[in-house]
Amino acid sequence: MLLLVSNLLLWEQVASKPTVSLSTEDLYYRVVGLSHTTYFLAADLYHEFDMKYINTSWIKNRRLSLCHIASIYTPQSREEVHETKTEDLLKAMINISHAWEEPLKYLISTVPILKEASDKMLKRANAVRNRIRVLQEGMKIILSRSQKKVEKDPYPAWSGLADLQSSDEDTHLFAFYSLVHCLKRDTHKINTYLKMLRCRDIFKNKCFNE
Ligand SMILES: *[C@@H]1O[C@H](CO)[C@@H](O)[C@H](O)[C@H]1NC(C)=O
Ligand SMILES: *[C@@H]1O[C@H](CO)[C@@H](O)[C@H](O)[C@H]1NC(C)=O
Repeated sequence: MLLLVSNLLLWEQVASKPTVSLSTEDLYYRVVGLSHTTYFLAADLYHEFDMKYINTSWIKNRRLSLCHIASIYTPQSREEVHETKTEDLLKAMINISHAWEEPLKYLISTVPILKEASDKMLKRANAVRNRIRVLQEGMKIILSRSQKKVEKDPYPAWSGLADLQSSDEDTHLFAFYSLVHCLKRDTHKINTYLKMLRCRDIFKNKCFNE
């Protein structure tokens, strides 16, 4: 176990290189671990923001809209997951990870101008972006083992930039809130599906709690 943990840390340090020589089992082990920490970082980001701004009136008067990745089909129930091919689920998650590149860039550039945001918040936002990149590479390697063709389709666009950069403070804050809310949801989604896929592809569906 200790060995595995230190391997994981090593892998995170050389973050840009999940190597092609790893076994699929090791790759799954790493992407599951990585997606887990990514989700926790995103949840911390969300909670810090939530704690600081939840009591202001705007939050109670506005409704969250759909997250920008809503057009990417993902199975909603365990049964639907079982009916979805591994390749299709991996493609959907890779699609999600690409669709977050643009909004994460702006989320990170917005943190320093938020009132009351801590340094930790910026560190976490950067850590999420770096981990999603590595995660994307890892998922692409797993996918490449069963599918050689590279998709050239576009990724869902994010249209929240104008609101995020709005000079109206409520609009700006709510756009930020929506973004961290979606980030938490989507990173959770990726973690959940990766655990299910590992269970299916490595443990032949014989695992606990999944
Ligand atoms: C939010 O406001 C309510 C009522 O004013 C107060 O009871 C509560 O402690 C506040 N919560 C936070 C997290 O500040
Ligand atoms: C990503 O998802 C969108 C929405 O479903 C789809 O139109 C697009 O083709 C997908 N892109 C890739 C690379 O799979």
